Amino acid sequence: MIRSVVRGTGAALPRRIMKNADFEGMVETSDEWIAQRTGIRQRHIAADDETTASLGEAAARAALDNAGLTPDDIDLIVLATSTPNNTFPATAVDIQNRLGMHHGFAFDLQAVCSGFVYAVTTADLYIRGGLAKRVLVIGSETFSRILDWSDRSTCVLFGDGAGAMVLEAGEGTGSIADRGVLAGSLRSDGTHKDKLFVDGGPSTTGTVGYLRMEGREVFKHAVGMITDVIEATFSAAGITAEDLDWFVPHQANKRIIDASAKKLGIAEQKVVVTVDLHGNTSAASVPLALSVAVADGRIKKGDLVLLEAMGGGFTWGAVLVRW
Ligand code: ACO
Repeated sequence: MIRSVVRGTGAALPRRIMKNADFEGMVETSDEWIAQRTGIRQRHIAADDETTASLGEAAARAALDNAGLTPDDIDLIVLATSTPNNTFPATAVDIQNRLGMHHGFAFDLQAVCSGFVYAVTTADLYIRGGLAKRVLVIGSETFSRILDWSDRSTCVLFGDGAGAMVLEAGEGTGSIADRGVLAGSLRSDGTHKDKLFVDGGPSTTGTVGYLRMEGREVFKHAVGMITDVIEATFSAAGITAEDLDWFVPHQANKRIIDASAKKLGIAEQKVVVTVDLHGNTSAASVPLALSVAVADGRIKKGDLVLLEAMGGGFTWGAVLVRW
């Protein structure tokens, strides 16, 4: 059978780093509050010339280099983002053009923080359906542009960045020993819309809007939702937490990551954490964390890696990949 095998990963971050202490003159907060409640110590913030498209392009080029490929080798680009350069056309098409790629096709996918998990699942279906051989899957965000910088309950939580992955069609036997995307589970439920949303849009206010979140409410739902899709993924693949080599969760809050791993029985040393360095970069958080763990040698060929995310909508999901 056809499997979607990871061929390379890459990342890109804005030049400017903003530390927790840098907020202290802007809103009533402290490094101690932010670090204790979230695990975040710093985040990268995009300058005017750094956009979702430029960061996505840089991450895509890094992933192509890592894979030993060029844009000519790619058939499809799926970009997960909630902060596109324009309402339309899709920022994925902008990235396609920036890469000098004038064949194949590209589109954006919007599932907020779960975007990358949704995008990997989508790319896997295109590959297994025979519609694409190699897919560039990108998560790129500039959430700093939709933050209300006077709202301390949200502005300290998010950062900008991009991560990318090249998936390539390979042969598998259909067993859990195959390399590639092995199983997953996606969910959404719009009843929770008001707990995490942006208060603007082309069809309502005609503005871009600002992110609004009832953090405590999101937190309350997060661990249960995350564990549900992970248990569904384990059961589809016929594995347990002990079989995993690495757990790469969405990087929203260290306390959510710790509570989910504990509930699932995933050992602490298997959990990849980058929220301290990047904050919550929404759809970019999982591929950013992945590329850090690949670059420092933790994730290696043959490892069993579980990706997970939960975000606005609510949307949530998990994907199991053998590297
Ligand atoms: N600095 C200092 N105090 C603050 C700050 C701040 N930056 N922000 C809020 N506070 C205050 C609140 O006003 C509140 O004060 P009060 O008790 O006087 O009312 C107090 O701190 C506690 O606030 P809580 O909201 O209860 O704090 P909590 O421990 O829940 O932490 C947080 C807040 C970090 C937002 C947490 O709820 C959280 O991480 N939620 C989940 C967010 C998340 O996972 N999002 C994922 C999806 S993101 C996406 O999809 C785009």
